[in-house]
Amino acid sequence: MNYLDYAATTPVDPRVFDAMLPYFRESFGNPSSVHRYGQKAETAIEEARETVASILHCRADEIIFTSCGSESDNLALRGAALMRRNASGAKWILTSKTEHHAVSKTALQLEKEYGFALEWLEVNQHGMVTPESLSKAVCNETALASVMYANNEIGTINPIAQLAKIAKANNIIFHTDAVQAAAYLDVNIESLGVDLMSLGGHKFYGPKGVGALYVRKGTKLVPHTTGGGQEYGLRAGTQNVPYIVGFAEALRLTAEEREQRIAHVKPLRDQIIGRVLEEVSDSKLTGHPENRLPNHASFVFKDVDGNLLLQMLDASGFACSSGSACKTGNPEPSEVITELGFERDWALGSLRITLGVDSTPEHIDSFLKTLPSLINKARTLRS
Ligand SMILES: Cc1ncc(COP(=O)(O)O)c(C=O)c1O
Repeated sequence: MNYLDYAATTPVDPRVFDAMLPYFRESFGNPSSVHRYGQKAETAIEEARETVASILHCRADEIIFTSCGSESDNLALRGAALMRRNASGAKWILTSKTEHHAVSKTALQLEKEYGFALEWLEVNQHGMVTPESLSKAVCNETALASVMYANNEIGTINPIAQLAKIAKANNIIFHTDAVQAAAYLDVNIESLGVDLMSLGGHKFYGPKGVGALYVRKGTKLVPHTTGGGQEYGLRAGTQNVPYIVGFAEALRLTAEEREQRIAHVKPLRDQIIGRVLEEVSDSKLTGHPENRLPNHASFVFKDVDGNLLLQMLDASGFACSSGSACKTGNPEPSEVITELGFERDWALGSLRITLGVDSTPEHIDSFLKTLPSLINKARTLRS
């Protein structure tokens, strides 16, 4: 089996796994306990916080550990929107339809259940939110803008530093979902200038079920979970010590090995993009041709059922992904692909191939030899 779905999740790095192990049994204390078991667990969390902060170029007390990227997005959006409205009456939320559902559905909930006003930011044909699009949408009642750093379905990288500057000039809180970006892009807060940034451990060879939210000092949030005062009162609940240790170690290794990892995946990704567009009729790249994640290739194929193609690829030994969210035989095109302007006959045939540390030229070659005939077969089955 060839795994070509690293944007969905990654295997835990053995070095990360080793760093986590002692915190399951020997050092199992509750970090809130006063005794030395507790102190040891607390020290591990605070060291992990320092590690994450040193990579993000921020203060340790600006890092909140959460249970996943989705939770970080929820805390950021709901926490900031509610706080802002309480403080100033601001009621507008700006985000785009190309966001992960952890952001877009939270924004929709804030509109429907909490009475906020929601405006979808326009994206260009590559799915990018431009500075002009944000400038056009801001008003003096805007509470918050949320724009992802890099898109999970189409790989496009947004101009976060420029967008954050516009938000700051207009006194708007700016959040970015960096869950996909953190595996390959610089997550330096000083250069990005964002107020809130979400991360998720399992996208960069850390464990699933752990994430973090960067919260700029002075950015007030309504707590997400109430209870004990853990995580500076923003996220109650006994911390998951081994997973937090694993998250920090995975991020540290990612920052340290970033250049090598990019040098490994980028030529393979370029080969996929070049050969698919050349060898498969009626195929188009989705997302930005250059400004995209270095491990990410995504396409649409006309008159292909994307879910069927995925099943055929799986049967042939390739694990990939599609933009289509539905797995029940009645697929709807993904909102992200539709937002790029593709008609249904194209949008239903989306395919995402994402690479990682164990991808080899042989895997890619074998994939590229298999794909065109599977697409032809999928087209015949559909017509
Ligand atoms: C851009 C983006 N945001 C958020 C998430 C959710 O992260 P998690 O699975 O850690 O909840 C994902 C996961 O696919 C993602 O790609």
